[in-house]
Amino acid sequence: MSDLLIRNAHLVPLSTPSNELRDLLVRDGRIAAIEPQGAFDRLEVKNTMDAAGLTLAPGLIDVHVHLREPGQTYKETIATGTRAAAAGGFTTVVAMPNTLPVNDSVTSLNWMLAPERGAQVHLLAMPAATIGSMGETLSDYEAIARAGAVGFTDDGKPVLEDHIMRAALVAAARLDLPISQHAEDIRMTGGCSMNAGPLAFRMGLRGMTVEAESSIVERDIRLLREIEASENLRPHLHVQHVSTSRALAAIREAKRQGLHVTCEAAPHHFTLNEHAVEGYNANAKMNPPLRAEQDRLAIIEGLFDGTVDCIATDHAPHAAHEKEVEFERAPNGITGLETALGLALRVLHRDHGMPLARVIALMSTQPATVLQLEDRGALQVGAYADLVLFDATAEWVFLAANSLSKSKNTPFDHDAMLGQIHATICEGRIVYRR
Ligand code: DOR
Ligand code: ZN
Repeated sequence: MSDLLIRNAHLVPLSTPSNELRDLLVRDGRIAAIEPQGAFDRLEVKNTMDAAGLTLAPGLIDVHVHLREPGQTYKETIATGTRAAAAGGFTTVVAMPNTLPVNDSVTSLNWMLAPERGAQVHLLAMPAATIGSMGETLSDYEAIARAGAVGFTDDGKPVLEDHIMRAALVAAARLDLPISQHAEDIRMTGGCSMNAGPLAFRMGLRGMTVEAESSIVERDIRLLREIEASENLRPHLHVQHVSTSRALAAIREAKRQGLHVTCEAAPHHFTLNEHAVEGYNANAKMNPPLRAEQDRLAIIEGLFDGTVDCIATDHAPHAAHEKEVEFERAPNGITGLETALGLALRVLHRDHGMPLARVIALMSTQPATVLQLEDRGALQVGAYADLVLFDATAEWVFLAANSLSKSKNTPFDHDAMLGQIHATICEGRIVYRR
């Protein structure tokens, strides 16, 4: 007997050029069949869902989330963060290693991925590129890769030293894994709490320059070129949360030259500009910071022209008491899992005319490609039944108070969203239902 039948769904990306509705059958956690409406009407199934008027897409994949466990479970746990992920339509999330202790070993990776942590969706992790994310000694890439890592990163911090970054790219390339770089030259950003420019000046705050991001991206691209020329390797650099036009330009050019560079953009960077921090709003404080309007528009251009490979939330929960301090002392980061699709559809699809299928690809198929995730990110027979069912035309208002995350630090409280999620299905299990 089959587990689940979803009937009368509008599939995105479209399985056929026509707009015909489809029925999708799930068996043993996989997509067993996709057929024209009514094809399974005489089949015996445990559960049936009527998707009339709704869109069915591959479950969303977020390559960049902070789940805070172990060590800071008052902000979030693996269970609460992945519950918020499911509510946001995500079926796979990749946990960053800046936990306490830092996830830099097989032991801690196994601990995070253990069923006891209660992940509600498919959980992956990117352990630390260097021990303790101190930027000095590489962690044990081979052993950690064997335990299931999907890449290495010191996110929250950059891998700063040239020779360490070079060694990291080489070691990861030997395992066919990416180094995910938080591109920030911290020698230039000490004491900075927002984007550099006239607004920071007026607010009396020190600003992070564009160059603090772009110089690291440019350095890393130079390393890729050097490694390709001197070793028989093709290293993969993934640039996290790109926020500046200048960094994007470097990535665009590197891609044109055939280097293996990918990058992600966060919904807040294509939705808001630096003015959102006016009034010293710590819920709009994150790193990299919200930038100038021309940078925001450049990110959107990059999403359109293929320079940006995927959308990632950088979901970074912090407790209210931590944010309710002087702006400069507040920690960086905002929650993002439950607003990502609503913002992407509002800003990219409605305001900028990006086709729905492109938006979904940026949040599912393309992140799956970046991380070479097998059998995920596409509505294909045989793939995992990772699905999100949503009303692509529904407008709604996000209320942070209703969030399933433990933390409510978002600049999007009471903000308009487009596209309401009705159900999220992970490996055939319904993990969220409205
Ligand atoms: O805003 C951010 N928050 N940026 C980072 O790089 C780290 C993250 C966090 O862990 O809170
Ligand atoms: Zn980061």
